[in-house]
Amino acid sequence: MTNIQIAPSLLSADFSKLGDELRDIEAGGADLVHLDVMDGHFVPNLTIGPAIVKSCRAQTKLPFDCHLMISEPQRYIDAFLKAGANMISIHQEAEPHLQRALQMIRDGGAKAGIAINPATPAESLSTAIEFCDFVLVMTVNPGFGGQKFIEPVVGKIRHIAQMIRERGVAVDIEVDGGIDAATAPLVVAAGARILVAGSAVFGQPDRRAAMEAIRNSVVAQT
Ligand code: DX5
Ligand code: ZN
Repeated sequence: MTNIQIAPSLLSADFSKLGDELRDIEAGGADLVHLDVMDGHFVPNLTIGPAIVKSCRAQTKLPFDCHLMISEPQRYIDAFLKAGANMISIHQEAEPHLQRALQMIRDGGAKAGIAINPATPAESLSTAIEFCDFVLVMTVNPGFGGQKFIEPVVGKIRHIAQMIRERGVAVDIEVDGGIDAATAPLVVAAGARILVAGSAVFGQPDRRAAMEAIRNSVVAQT
């Protein structure tokens, strides 16, 4: 069975009862929690900041994967580390000093990720891939849950997986946007190992069944 990790995105949870929502996905077999941080500037939406991440930290043992969709992400890395992030991804499009920012994340004891928008080419990772622990490939334009999967990005995932193999670096590929039981097999076949799913998990009444449906959809893959 393919070794994938499922990271439900809290963006599609009920924000009035985040503790219950976190316990529900933990009991249902989630591997990570994906927390979407948006600033109304890098993306056209506002969501959560470090204070909410810190409050959530006390509610579950699951590792926290903080996806920073914010301008000047370097200014906020320390706050998210202190709030309890175990993984932090920053957008390449938002950070001119990528290597320095990734090192700050690693120095703080978290895994460092480079997030790239659908239109950002794989080649742009050529140097920076040496400095990260994972690449978060957006399969929608970031900003909202429930958007349609952008299928041409699958070829880019394949390209990045090849780059990782050729370099011999220990880098995971995470995908985010429009992932469900129909699209998961495509991205896993291309090389993705961490699957973010917002509406496909929190939009369903039975979160355990929703995650199992995603896992089962990729069982046949190697
Ligand atoms: C979108 C966010 C995603 C979002 C995914 O900008 O980065 O993490 O929650 O939601 P779905 O899985 O519904 O596309
Ligand atoms: Zn995200």
